[in-house]
Amino acid sequence: MEKATKKNTQEKGGNATKSKAGVPEEARSLLLKFFTDEIKDIYWAEKHLTKALPKMKTAATSEELQLAFQTHLEQTGQHVQRLEKIFGLLDQKAQAKKCDAMEGLIKEGESIVDDTDEGTATRDVGLIFAAQKVEHYEIATYGGLSQLATTLGLDEIAGILGETLAEEKETDELLSEIAESNINYEAAEEEEKTK
Ligand SMILES: [Fe+2]
Ligand SMILES: [Fe+2]
Repeated sequence: MEKATKKNTQEKGGNATKSKAGVPEEARSLLLKFFTDEIKDIYWAEKHLTKALPKMKTAATSEELQLAFQTHLEQTGQHVQRLEKIFGLLDQKAQAKKCDAMEGLIKEGESIVDDTDEGTATRDVGLIFAAQKVEHYEIATYGGLSQLATTLGLDEIAGILGETLAEEKETDELLSEIAESNINYEAAEEEEKTK
């Protein structure tokens, strides 16, 4: 069955209709449309984060965590710019498409702030939880997009997406370190005090 399919493709002159990356043209254009839509989605998400991160920084108690949010806010600004560069390379104008997942993750972060007291390590624990969920969403998205760009033969774009992916991973690790080194212990003590 598989052999017959291959023969069929060859008879139709399959090679001539294949793109540089070896993906048939028709499939490539469908995949490219999907890829572009996902770029629009993460573009909305990153722009939304540039508004959410300053609020998370203000809500944080520990200076270390405030600094981590500040640093990542600056990186997130670069993530937005990189996506704009990608739109240019795709010959498209930058366009954001609402990302329901990111909107939900940010709302969850806001409810954590509402449910915890100002100036507590418990609130910081909650903020780290919320921020790491965001980073993991971004890691999944950029990991998938960079792989897809490679499949589509868009090597320069794959490289750009890879840079952002590395920064999301670093941020996730930094947040883990902050939680493990100090904040989780402080929050555990807080709970004992209130008992
Ligand atoms: Fe990002
Ligand atoms: Fe991020």
